[in-house]
Amino acid sequence: MNPASVSDYRELARRRLPKMFFEYIDGGAYAEVTLRRNVEDMEAIALRQRVMRDMTKLDMSVEVAGQKLAMPLALAPVGMAGMYARRGEVQASAAATAAGIPFCLSTVGVCSLEEVAKAGTPPWFQLYMLKDRGYMKELLSRARDAGCPVLVFTVDLPVPGARYRDARSGFSQRGLAGALNTAWQGMTHPEWTWDVFLNGRPHTLGSVAGAVEQGRNVTAFLGWIARNFDRSVTWADIDWVREVWDGPIIIKGVLDAEDARAAVKAGAQGVVVSNHGGRQLDGVSSSVAALPRIVDAVGADLDVLMDGGVRSGLDVLKALALGAKACLIGRPWAFALGAGGRPMIERLLATLQGELATAMILTGCNTATGADQTLLDRRI
Ligand code: FNR
Repeated sequence: MNPASVSDYRELARRRLPKMFFEYIDGGAYAEVTLRRNVEDMEAIALRQRVMRDMTKLDMSVEVAGQKLAMPLALAPVGMAGMYARRGEVQASAAATAAGIPFCLSTVGVCSLEEVAKAGTPPWFQLYMLKDRGYMKELLSRARDAGCPVLVFTVDLPVPGARYRDARSGFSQRGLAGALNTAWQGMTHPEWTWDVFLNGRPHTLGSVAGAVEQGRNVTAFLGWIARNFDRSVTWADIDWVREVWDGPIIIKGVLDAEDARAAVKAGAQGVVVSNHGGRQLDGVSSSVAALPRIVDAVGADLDVLMDGGVRSGLDVLKALALGAKACLIGRPWAFALGAGGRPMIERLLATLQGELATAMILTGCNTATGADQTLLDRRI
């Protein structure tokens, strides 16, 4: 199949990846209400069609945290991408760089921040706060030394939300049963076995390998998160981060206007309106529903980004119309990576760019920075 839409990349990834990795990417928390809401609320927004305007000039570029983006999009941090394709984070970073947009590397990526930075462009670095503050300091200085331009501090995962699909697929299974399950899933997906299992090693969580207990299987990391992520974190800890990190900080995982105002007070340069793609507290509102109230509260003070449910370039324009500076995508690029590595992500990004251009032309919007609520049809 020649993939044309995000659902096509999803289908290709479903065929190629061992079931437990596909389900890990595709799934959300509990009954997946928020996961569905993210997509459905985005779909329910109507764009306002305009005609007969001179649309020969189109400028999709935006500036976020002092960086110019060729289009208002970034690749969201996605854990363990190196299990979806060989050295997956390096491949994704290269695709993002070719498209002129940022790649945000997860704390729990397979490739370390040094490996990604050395292979091409230093990524934005996403931070999860671990209990071991000495190690955290070291990690932040490594990110600074590697030239990472932006720190994305994810604050909506003091504990992992329960994901039923991971239990059912064997992703969170331990011991002999877990090992046998992994071996069986590998044997039944030979392309993946060749690309990732045999030729994509080492399979550690590169950036935090020093903090993770030795000898553990990479898929056992949800338990490690539960034991090592720091749930005592408060806004005061941003000052602590600043002692080591003097670059821009974007707070990811804000859904509430009061929290967004606290992020301004703490000196953040941006927030990502996000519910972690419906993978944490199920039942909370969709990101796109929360976006306008956060833009109202802090849009004048910092860069408001959003993620969750962005499945096309049309969705990107809807988010911009509601006040986002740019969007991040998580599952779409993870599926494309699983479907066929860097070339598939490049193809996905070209598609999203084309869709955004079409949406801008048909709504009479010449510049991404000029998008506002007048692009929406409020009668629907
Ligand atoms: C994520 N997300 C995530 N976020 C983060 O800050 N650090 C991480 O390590 C991860 N890991 C991760 C793994 C997988 C498989 C998924 C799907 C998501 C959340 C991610 O950055 C983003 O917020 C959501 O994916 C956005 O929703 P969509 O685009 O997937 O709908």
